[in-house]
Amino acid sequence: MKGKILVAGGMGFIGSHTTVELQNAGFEVVIVDNLSNSNIEVLDGIERITGVRPAFVKADCTDMAAMRRLFDEYKGINGIIDFAASKAVGESMQKPIMYYRNNLNILLNLLELMPEYGVKGFVFSSSCTVYGEPDHNPITEDAPTKKATSPYGATKQVSEDIIADVIRSGSPIKAILLRYFNPIGAHPSAEIGELPNGVPANLVPYLTQTAIGVRKELSIFGNDYDTPDGTCIRDFINVVDLAKAHVVALERMLDNKSDEALEVFNIGTGDGVSVQQLLDAFERSTGVKVPHKYVARRPGDIVKIWADPKKANEVLGWKAEATLDDTMLSAWKWQQRLRERGIM
Ligand code: UD1
Repeated sequence: MKGKILVAGGMGFIGSHTTVELQNAGFEVVIVDNLSNSNIEVLDGIERITGVRPAFVKADCTDMAAMRRLFDEYKGINGIIDFAASKAVGESMQKPIMYYRNNLNILLNLLELMPEYGVKGFVFSSSCTVYGEPDHNPITEDAPTKKATSPYGATKQVSEDIIADVIRSGSPIKAILLRYFNPIGAHPSAEIGELPNGVPANLVPYLTQTAIGVRKELSIFGNDYDTPDGTCIRDFINVVDLAKAHVVALERMLDNKSDEALEVFNIGTGDGVSVQQLLDAFERSTGVKVPHKYVARRPGDIVKIWADPKKANEVLGWKAEATLDDTMLSAWKWQQRLRERGIM
């Protein structure tokens, strides 16, 4: 056993895939999750893939007393990964207080408890949303951050600042901020994947739900942008590759491989792929046609953003490996599995 890791929000999309990779790498995992956007069966999926059922505590990370009970019960936690957050951009515009309260209180509680319980390393789920619309692509970590366009995005920016302030104040912790680009796909086993609540706001779940017939038609938001095919460009990162970045980030802190108390890394492939190219890749790799139409731009969308992942490649020794076609196939396999299980 390499160490004991608390995965806050470990039942969700990225958290569940990261739990798998942590267990595969020899870490012991304790998941804390309030199941507000996930369900208990995720534990079965993780167990079927890894052969190990992680410890699970159903609690809300905003509940300080419950978190203290957790740390008292599971002694010797070495690191925390904080995935626990509300993440829907549109919803955050409707419910800003809920977003700020939830996302920031979770973070503040974890940061306050770390020194009390001797927890050394903290990995924070940040987002390329902190860059706003980039002046140049690919974008590096030292590019300026821009004012967030949603309360969701603002919570990521403020969270990054809070972590920096806490470390500057002398807290005996180390932290790594991972700025994810667009996480997509599912575990190749189709035992775990993304399970959005209600109508998906994100592209890939909407696309796979359309392909299987749950949705009638995919709307492509804008094909008149200043890009080669007129649709927006993103850096779509396979969720298993993304999960592995958390493992190396934790190892870096726990094994004292760096003198820096706070580091930030872009986690992306380095390739800009348009919405149209993503759709084409899905149809090509699966052989399934997706009914779609081109509609007006979605307000607030970034036109183009993709990562320069050189720092993560060189410093963390991490690199995205999955091909886009494999990633699309994994998303499709997961959607089909949901159908087999009668979920969707
Ligand atoms: C958004 C957030 C990001 C967050 C991510 C996951 C911003 C600017 N971005 O990314 O921080 O981490 O969600 O929650 O806040 N599209 C369609 N049709 C659809 C859905 C999407 O054409 O039905 C297009 C969008 O216009 C966009 C692209 O697909 O160009 C990707 O959209 P989406 O999956 O929602 O992710 P982002 O908006 O990039």
